Amino acid sequence: MRVALFAFIFLSLLFAKGPIEPIPKILIEDKEKSKIGKILFYDPNLSKDKKISCASCHKKEYGGANNEEKGTGVFGRKTKYNVPSIYNLRFQYVYGWKNKKYDLKRKIEDIMKNPNIMEADFDEIVDYVYSNGFLKKLFLKTYKNINKENVIDALYNYLLTLNTVESKFDRYLLGYGELSSKEKNGFELFKRYGCIACHNGKSLGGHFYFKRGYFLEENDQELIKCPSLRNVEKSAPYFHDGKIKTLKEAVKWMAKAQLGREISDENAQKIVEFLRSLTGKIDDQMD
Ligand code: HEC
Ligand code: HEC
Repeated sequence: MRVALFAFIFLSLLFAKGPIEPIPKILIEDKEKSKIGKILFYDPNLSKDKKISCASCHKKEYGGANNEEKGTGVFGRKTKYNVPSIYNLRFQYVYGWKNKKYDLKRKIEDIMKNPNIMEADFDEIVDYVYSNGFLKKLFLKTYKNINKENVIDALYNYLLTLNTVESKFDRYLLGYGELSSKEKNGFELFKRYGCIACHNGKSLGGHFYFKRGYFLEENDQELIKCPSLRNVEKSAPYFHDGKIKTLKEAVKWMAKAQLGREISDENAQKIVEFLRSLTGKIDDQMD
């Protein structure tokens, strides 16, 4: 398995063309649909107890995640996993820490139905939209029907607008910004250690499932989504279980578990500085 991992890392480094790319500015495809999605995103009426909206867990101030080990869903129930960021999803191919989904719309449906998250009943949601004059009007103007697929489609369109542009690192990649020497050093280490083999592309992750740690003792580990590292400084605590509290610990843990390396505090700190330069701002064309 380790041989396979090294072969994978070697080949990714060999064939990757500019393995980290800036987040491009995207023109919103369908503003009307995204606008409805945005309203739904903040609306607790989609949940069973009418108290929890998407924004209860996916918060702006925490990079589209929250700052707790787990999320709190309907009726005070705790989520099974740590809340991941929902930014830059359009550059990712897999969704869900473990419950693999390759289709973002199906993931949204899953999340909404999850009894620890929203326990949504789509018949009730459709009735609610019909009963809300404002939403009903908007919906019927944009979509012909109010139904489950269209509710999900609106949320999907809104999520596709949540991209974080203009990070310090992207400005550096695009040639109009500078990085500090620590940040540059951190980026070099990130490449040299091989972090970039898994965390790459525009979102630095979100493309594959991997074992939790190729150098951990336990063998038959489940596969876990390699998450995006964009805005990661804001979304502590870390990992699918939310058990690691600081970014520095997360970096040291990764180096050991995935690459079999003990890295010094100083080098871990440099990688943290690099990761902090990945924080961007939402390209909000909706307000
Ligand atoms: C109670 C907290 C909570 C609420 C409310 C919530 N989510 Fe999430 N969300 C989570 C958790 C926990 C996960 C990880 C679940 C998993 O991996 O299967 C997640 C995962 C996701 C993902 C997959 C992200 C990825 O990187 O793989 C998407 C997309 C998403 N949520 C969208 C939404 C939308 C849209 C809503 C509202 C309709 C919503 N969430 C409401 C907690 C929440
Ligand atoms: C073999 C693929 C692989 C390699 C190599 C790798 N990672 Fe990861 N990374 C993962 C996976 C899988 C997870 C999710 C683990 C979990 O949730 O338990 C993860 C999670 C993380 C997280 C937590 C993100 C969050 O939002 O919770 C950070 C930070 C991170 N990696 C940084 C690094 C750094 C720094 C390196 C290099 C020292 C590295 N990774 C190398 C696959 C990899």
